[in-house]
Amino acid sequence: MFKRLQEKWGVSTRQFWIIFIAFGLTGTTTAFITRYVAAWLGLGPDSFWLWKLLLRIGMLLIGYQVLLLGYGALLGQWAFFWKYEQKLLQKLGILSKNTQKLAIFASGAGSNAAKIIAHFKNHPTIQIVLIVCNKPEAGVLKIAAENGIPTLLIEKDRFAKGDGYCPELLEKGVNFVVLAGFLWKIPQTLIAAYPNQIINIHPALLPKYGGKGMYGAKVHEAVIAAGEKESGITIHYVNEHYDEGATIFQATCSIHQGDDADSLAHKIHGLEHQHFPLVIERLLTK
Ligand code: GAR
Repeated sequence: MFKRLQEKWGVSTRQFWIIFIAFGLTGTTTAFITRYVAAWLGLGPDSFWLWKLLLRIGMLLIGYQVLLLGYGALLGQWAFFWKYEQKLLQKLGILSKNTQKLAIFASGAGSNAAKIIAHFKNHPTIQIVLIVCNKPEAGVLKIAAENGIPTLLIEKDRFAKGDGYCPELLEKGVNFVVLAGFLWKIPQTLIAAYPNQIINIHPALLPKYGGKGMYGAKVHEAVIAAGEKESGITIHYVNEHYDEGATIFQATCSIHQGDDADSLAHKIHGLEHQHFPLVIERLLTK
């Protein structure tokens, strides 16, 4: 159950326990303060139930939330709790839902990008605003043109050692980045600008068959060579190491006798197309 919650929140194990402690401290402090406020207002066991209920609701809606932000900030988790509060306000209808603007980073054929674009074509709150690519000949650029989505062709030095193209992303209002067949390492600048807002799809069951140099056919060849009976896909948050961020979702497929890297790639692509758009939607609308 803890693992599931950690994946839903998209945080490291350390961060998860800090957040857990912040919730615990907030609950205890709110209960403590509520008792004092009740005494100060002269509310006791014999008072009219409605006043006591109103006090509890008020403390929960205001006191608890303010304390949560306070403890969150004190424990270095302001970003997490601020996002948490914004979502709550949106659910209560106090804050209007923002449109989520996605950039897809892809440098291959772009079959995943195509599925994602099709899935969100008329979505009420999720929009694909930019395709980022590092290969002028990549198929994904044609897909972007067919769908009228702006593209950004990037070069390695500026991406890896410069500003990570953050100004262009911010200028387009991008608030979430999806890597779909993008093979360069994501620089710290970009990770810092988009904390827990960059996800990747990997064509194997991480932590196996991941890391530098493990992409596309190479992954499937290694899986077959190792005699695995099963492979699959992993969708995960991106951190500063290749394929090591927290897992969001995995799906598996069987490997039969006679399967080779090509037939496995075909099965894996099927899984990716089936799940990736839905996982993105779930993450951005939860
Ligand atoms: C996908 O299978 C994706 O999992 C893989 O590249 C392929 C891109 O296909 N990514 C990696 O290997 C990352 N390590 P596509 O261009 O048809 O979407």
